[in-house]
Amino acid sequence: MCGIIGILGSAPAAPRLVEALKRLEYRGYDSAGVATLEGGVIKRRRAPGKLANLERELAAAPLAGVTGIGHTRWATHGAPTTANAHPHATDRVAIVHNGIIENFRALREELIAKGHKFESETDSEVIAHLITAGLDKGEKPEAAAIGAVRRLEGAFGIAVLFAGEEDVLIGARKGSPLAVGFGDGEMFLGSDAIAVSPFTTRVMFLEEGDIAILSRAGAKVLDADGAVAQRQIHIFSGGVASVEKGNHRHFMQKEIYEQPETTGRTITRYVNAYDERVEMPDLDGVDLAADNAIIIGCGTAHYAGRVAEYWLEQIAGITVETDIASEFRYRKPAFGKKSFGVFVSQSGETADTLAALRYCKENALKTLAVVNVPESTIWREADARLPTLAGPEIGVASTKAFTAQLSALAALAIAVGRARGALSSQEEGRLVHALMETPRLITDALTAEPQIEAIAHELAHARDVLYLGRGVHYPIALEGALKLKEISYIHAEGYAAGELKHGPIALIDEDTPGVVVAPHDALFEKTLSNMQEVAARGAKLIVITDPAGAAAVKDIAKHIILAPACDAFVAPLVYSVPIQLLAYLTAVQKGTDVDQPRNLAKSVTVE
Ligand code: AGP
Repeated sequence: MCGIIGILGSAPAAPRLVEALKRLEYRGYDSAGVATLEGGVIKRRRAPGKLANLERELAAAPLAGVTGIGHTRWATHGAPTTANAHPHATDRVAIVHNGIIENFRALREELIAKGHKFESETDSEVIAHLITAGLDKGEKPEAAAIGAVRRLEGAFGIAVLFAGEEDVLIGARKGSPLAVGFGDGEMFLGSDAIAVSPFTTRVMFLEEGDIAILSRAGAKVLDADGAVAQRQIHIFSGGVASVEKGNHRHFMQKEIYEQPETTGRTITRYVNAYDERVEMPDLDGVDLAADNAIIIGCGTAHYAGRVAEYWLEQIAGITVETDIASEFRYRKPAFGKKSFGVFVSQSGETADTLAALRYCKENALKTLAVVNVPESTIWREADARLPTLAGPEIGVASTKAFTAQLSALAALAIAVGRARGALSSQEEGRLVHALMETPRLITDALTAEPQIEAIAHELAHARDVLYLGRGVHYPIALEGALKLKEISYIHAEGYAAGELKHGPIALIDEDTPGVVVAPHDALFEKTLSNMQEVAARGAKLIVITDPAGAAAVKDIAKHIILAPACDAFVAPLVYSVPIQLLAYLTAVQKGTDVDQPRNLAKSVTVE
């Protein structure tokens, strides 16, 4: 997912653009660039790789000017080279773009036929030339930008700068979010509120199809029909402090340690602690007394949905279908009469999850989003939403958002159980009480870090790792494998412990560590048998369990990671912590780029 910043400022723009781009690094990128107006002339500096390379370019050849745009690019069309880095420009227009222009080839051919010369392989460059063509016909910047945007097909968020126009900045949103920041005599454009957070807390989120024409006096917004629209200005509280590492080495480590607070904040949003009851917000017609639910997401968000599947079936007695969004959206499934859809997403911008949501809405299914970023597209398009109050998650590997998703989904499962009369008020009280203990239990789980660090030294040398779990801990095993893969680049696979005998056990030897997620619960004895099977074949077992479980595995486990004894209902939240720490500490051993792992983006806004 690319990062966009635009500034109509009163101080040198170049350093401010770079400062904003640093707040967008979490989105993942492989090149960056800025453009400013120097005496009305468009000047650019661009570089492949990390922002440090762009800063070197600027140190060698500084840019003047108080008006500018900047971009971090996650390559879709064309390799991460200087020529493909944004901003793309003609001598009259400079643009930065997030998304994909699907009709760029036809537009490029049309413009080349008119004599336009292209310098990059990207789809984005066509936008600069299309706007320039409008200016060449005598159109004013606003008309030229509107005319060009209306011809673009696909998804985009763009910011546009015009030569000779020191007090004009134009933004357009269709499929990729864009925020307008209101300063004191200054105006800003950004991919999200974090981008403009160094300069202002007053943020307006554009809606689908909006075009914003900015001057230092303010912003005029035109909606998809070209009518002037009023959009609410929010105070964005997740300002600079929420995107600093504090005394942590990585954002991921900080966010793992924020989980007692972030799960606590999310849980208390949905429970009445005094009455020990769940309290759902107005769900705008989503009927929780449903017979079945579908839960859709990608990656870690999907695994949160898989945990919720067990909770909804066991607590509320409904049938649940979970699927990864990229498969669901093309399956064209049918829906039961009394169903609702749950869409789990940290960013609220994942293209496949959004497409799945839209498919369900087109088929008259009520939709509920479990989403972390306020005013994101999924947040706004769902019929109702259960916000996860994790705050901005900067590390590409999702941690606090995952446990916040589990917190909201656990409350939802209780609410559905009550709505269907499947839960006595006494049982509801027990479950809510267990939820309220979770922050303390997560704090306890965090104390295992030194133990886990020692194990990570060993795990860092593995080539393949198996993660095993049963029941509600099978998705936790899947999540543990994903965490290890995506930040340490070690191949790992999550398996249902009972499935080993049906093939995967052939993988077991003394070089294939097995990480077993096994609280001493109703399925523990079954999992113990599986552990004995793999230990008998020489596997090194790393068992994550509580004191009762530790006593039972001490003779077969090479390492035991202790988690606090806890109610089985909240164990998935508690056991998320050791699997996150194990992946994090192993990646640190390997020296990988933990917060921005190779090839990954924080939110995948393209298919
Ligand atoms: C999680 O560690 C990954 N970074 C990735 O799987 C992520 O969960 C997935 O891309 C979904 O993103 P979303 O929650 O923003 O929709």
